[in-house]
Parts: sequence; structure tokens; C-alpha cells
Amino acid sequence: SPGGSMKRQQQQIDDLLYAEIRDRRAEGESDRTDILTLLLSARYENGESLSDEELRDQLITLLGTAYHNTAISMTWAFYWIHYLPKVKQKLLEELEPIGENPDPMTLFKLPYLTAVYQETLRIYPPAIFTLMRHIQEPVEIEGNKLEAGKAFGCIYLLHQREDLYPEPKQFKPERFLERQFSLYEYMPFGAGIRRCIGAALAEFEIKLVLATILNYYQLELADSRPVKPKLQSLSIGLNTDAVKMIMTGERN
Ligand code: HEM
Repeated sequence: SPGGSMKRQQQQIDDLLYAEIRDRRAEGESDRTDILTLLLSARYENGESLSDEELRDQLITLLGTAYHNTAISMTWAFYWIHYLPKVKQKLLEELEPIGENPDPMTLFKLPYLTAVYQETLRIYPPAIFTLMRHIQEPVEIEGNKLEAGKAFGCIYLLHQREDLYPEPKQFKPERFLERQFSLYEYMPFGAGIRRCIGAALAEFEIKLVLATILNYYQLELADSRPVKPKLQSLSIGLNTDAVKMIMTGERN
């Protein structure tokens, strides 16, 4: 059954993670700087460390959010770049003078690549909502009364606001070159104290992957028809086979 198969897969992932945690505990003190090392050395105020189960939960959250959201963002970015020839042309013009084996920070700072990345996460934010907030007592924010209780911020609706993003259904990287948006106008990674801890890593990873692949390979969409976003639980997801691409050659 689908439920049984999911449980078995979950068990396999747990087994791998618990084995890694066991090996790392056995290693003892280490000068590694990866996230598991940091979690292993973390202490609660009473001096206790995280249990194996808590470590497993932290790792699975990181693997799930990191992999899923980043992969969806890259898929959409490749789609838009190849669906809109002008976007591809402008990106290639920006990448062309950089040459082979560029410094990653040079790629990271490219203005048009940054704008394409930002617009990709604006138009179809991989997370539609922020995580849940608990409102401790009734509060009024800019004329909006919020009762005590639970609330989500809807990132998708914010990113569709006409006053902030004219023609919000259009993919227009230029809007990010023309003006700066505040942390509460543009929030694909949420906002406030619980903002995504992986935001900087995701931005770095996505830009580097896009620039590297575009620099080396010529790609085309296998199907030129528009792809519509598909709602998958709390993310605007895609069918895994919705964006198919063909490599037509190498770029020199
Ligand atoms: C494009 C990629 C990503 C997107 C769009 C994304 C989006 C989000 C959003 C909207 C939240 C909720 C923030 C809030 O409620 O204010 C969140 C939380 C979180 N994200 Fe990401 N994320 C991405 C990549 C990553 C990566 C790469 C990591 C880890 C390396 C990560 C780890 C987390 C964690 C641990 C939380 C919970 C933070 C907390 O509760 O304090 N995410 N993410």
C-alpha cells in the first residue's frame, strides 16, 4: 500500500541518519564545521545535549526543506529562462565575459542573474505560507485586527500584490533592478525571527547551478507550451516531469 511503502522508505532514511549520528558520536571531538557537528556540540541551558531522535528530526527537516524548495526553485528558473528568449539572451550576455572557472562570488553578485533568481522565487514561491505563528494577545497592525491564536503569512498573495509588483503574473526580472523591496514586501524565505535559516545557502546554490549549467550547455524546453504551477500541500510544486529539457550541445 502507499502508506506501507512510505513507512518503509521513512525507516530506511531513519536507519541511514541514525548510523551517521552513531558514527559521529563515536568519532568524539572533531574540528569539522558541518551542521551535524554543530548540532552534536549544541547544549540546552541545563547542559543536556540533543537526543538521537532530536538530531534525526533536525536532519530530516534540513534535508526536506533544503532539497525540495531548492530543487523546485531551480526547475522554475530553468523553465523561465528557456521559456522567455529575452531573459536567456540577457543572462548569457551577462555570463559571457566572465569566462571559464569563474570565482563563485563573482557569479553570486551578477545583477541580472540575481534578478532572475529573485523573480523566480517571487512569481511561484516554493513555500506558499510562512510557518505558523502564535498570536499571544489581540493586536492591530496597520488597521488589521488579529485575534489571539494561530496565523500564517501568505507569501504567494503578498508576491501577487499589484501595487508592489505591477502585472504580477508576468515574469519580469527587471522589476528587481528598478527598485528594492523590503524584507516584508518580498519574503520567499518568510520573515522575522523564524525566517528560513537556509536562505543564504539556497541563494548561493541556485545561482551557482544556474550560471554553471548555462555557461557550459545549450538547453531547450522539450515542450514549448506554458507550464502551470500545481498545488502540492503547502508548496506551489510541479509534477516531477512537468519541465523536461533537452541538451542540444555544449557552449564554447
Ligand atoms: C529556495 C529554497 C528555500 C525556500 C524558498 C525556503 C523557504 C522557507 C520558508 C518560507 C520558511 C518559513 C519561514 C517563516 O515562517 O518565516 C523556511 C523555514 C526553514 N527553512 Fe527554508 N527555504 C529554502 C531553503 C532552505 C535550505 C537550503 C535550508 C537548510 C539548509 C532550509 C532550512 C529551513 C529551516 C530549518 C526552517 C525552519 C526555521 C525555523 O523554524 O526557525 N531552507 N524556509
